[in-house]
Amino acid sequence: MIENGQSSMSIVGTGSYTPKKVLTNAELEKMVDTSDDWITSRTGIKERRIANAGEATSHLAVRAAEAALENAGIGPDELDLIIVATVTPDTFFPATACYVQSKLGAKKASAFDVSAACAGFLYALQISRNFLNNKGCDKILIIGAEKLSSLTNYEDRNTCVLFGDGAGAAVLVRNEQQGDRRGRVLSAVMGSDGDQTDILIVPGGGSAIPITPENCDNRLNTISMVGREVYKYAVNAMKRACMEALEAAELTAEDVSMVIPHQANLRIIEAIVDRLGIPMEKTFINLDKYGNTSAAAIAIALDEANRSGAIKEGDIVLLVAFGAGLTWAAAVLEW
Ligand code: ACO
Repeated sequence: MIENGQSSMSIVGTGSYTPKKVLTNAELEKMVDTSDDWITSRTGIKERRIANAGEATSHLAVRAAEAALENAGIGPDELDLIIVATVTPDTFFPATACYVQSKLGAKKASAFDVSAACAGFLYALQISRNFLNNKGCDKILIIGAEKLSSLTNYEDRNTCVLFGDGAGAAVLVRNEQQGDRRGRVLSAVMGSDGDQTDILIVPGGGSAIPITPENCDNRLNTISMVGREVYKYAVNAMKRACMEALEAAELTAEDVSMVIPHQANLRIIEAIVDRLGIPMEKTFINLDKYGNTSAAAIAIALDEANRSGAIKEGDIVLLVAFGAGLTWAAAVLEW
C-alpha cells in the first residue's frame, strides 16, 4: 500500500525511554554458549536494556509519551487518538493503548493497539495519516513500545542475544495546524507477506496453542526465528520499500540526508544502504546500545536523531522497518 498525501501530516514532537538495567554481551557469555566477538561481528549489538519485573510495556510507553508531548508542547488532554504498536502488550485485552490513555490522563482520546511487529510504529504512522486526512482527528500520539525480554528464551543463543526493551513516541498533527511545517511526512508505504508467518513467530500463548504447563516447558511462548531466512527477506523487502517510498515522494536516494532503519542487525542495514547507493555515514545506528526493540526501535532512533541534532530542519529522512508477519514499511519525512 503506497500513499502520497503530499505533506498532509507532520511529526511535531518525539520522545523515548529505555529501562536503566543494561545486559551486556559479557553477561550473555555467562548465560549461553556465545561470545562478544560472535554477537558483535554478526549483529553489531554490544548491549541491550531490560525492564524490571514490575515494569510492563505501558510503563515504558508512558515515559516515552510524556517526553514526546513535552517536546511537542501539547498536553495529553488535547489528544484525539493514541495508537500503541507492540507485540508485548500488558494484557491480551484491554489494549496497552488504554492503559497509556489512563496513565497520561488523555480523557478525550480513543485508544487502540497495532500488531505489526518491528514494522508496527510505521504502520501506526500510516494509519494516523488516514485519520488526519479524513479530518476526524487533529492530534495523534503514536508509540512503539516493547518488553521483548518477556518473550525471550534466555537459554536460546539464536535469539536471546538480539532483543531488548524500550519505547519511543511521536506526536502527529495535520499540516495546516502547524506554522513552520517541521517534520512533514511526504510519503508512506507498507506491506505484508502472510505466507512467511513461520520464520519469525511466538507460536504459543494465543488461541492456536494456548498456554499450558507443557507448552511453557517447551518454550512455545518465546520467540522462534529462522534467522538466515529472515535476513534474506529483510534486505530485499526493505530495499523495495525504500524505493517505493522515495518514488511516492518524488525523490531519489541521492536526496536522502539520513536513513533511520529498523535496528535489528548492522549487516542488514549495511546491505540495504549499499544497494540503495547511500553511504553508511548517512545512517542512524543505535542498535549497539539497545539491540532489537521491535516496534520501539525506529521510534527511539528517531527521537535520538532529533534530540542529538543528527537530523536538522529541511533534511530528507527515510524511515524503513521490517518484522514478523512478515511485515515491512517505509516513510519519507522532510524534517
Ligand atoms: N553465539 C554463537 N553462535 C551462534 C549464536 C550465538 N549467539 N547464534 C547462532 N550461532 C551459531 C549457529 O548455531 C550456527 O552454528 P552452526 O553453523 O554450527 O549451525 C552459526 O552460529 C551460524 O548461524 P546463522 O543463524 O546462520 O548465523 P547468521 O550469520 O545468519 O546470523 C542472525 C544470525 C544474527 C540471527 C541473522 O541471521 C539475523 O540477523 N537475522 C535477521 C534477524 C532480524 O532481522 N529479525 C528482524 C525482525 S525481529 C522481529 O520482528 C521481532
